[in-house]
Amino acid sequence: MAGNKTFTMIKPDAVAENHIGGITKMIEEGGFRIVAMKKTRLSEERAGKFYEVHKERPFYGDLVKYMSSGPIVAMILEKDNAVEDFRKLIGATNPAQAEEGTIRKVYAKSIEANAVHGSDSDENAQIEGDFFFAADERF
Ligand code: TYD
Repeated sequence: MAGNKTFTMIKPDAVAENHIGGITKMIEEGGFRIVAMKKTRLSEERAGKFYEVHKERPFYGDLVKYMSSGPIVAMILEKDNAVEDFRKLIGATNPAQAEEGTIRKVYAKSIEANAVHGSDSDENAQIEGDFFFAADERF
């Protein structure tokens, strides 16, 4: 059965350009409830750990630098079928391929600076939420 939680980050360029409000509005209007929320900044070491699955990919070094270049907003979101429905709401990794009405279509600047992260499985949603939030930070 599909889980009801996913994890997202608003990435550094979208935070720097004052899109926290616009993006959380799209998230809430998309039917998601914000369970946990935190503005923080990843060190290069923590960004590297978060994206460890991509360690062998050619874009890994740049991605780690970018993700630690400024503050991000981390959130745990709740909705039935959360992981799949949130992937639909954010749109394709490459904004050139993102559909109208998706968060990346509106806010992403490039394949790297693509405004938001969304977990790709229930298992990763759990791991990624635990990476940022303690039990008493989720409501
Ligand atoms: P990926 O997990 O493939 O995409 P998504 O975020 O849609 O799940 O990649 C993780 C991040 O890595 C992606 O959001 C941006 C970055 N990235 C690049 O910078 N260049 C690339 O060619 C790819 C595929 C990803």
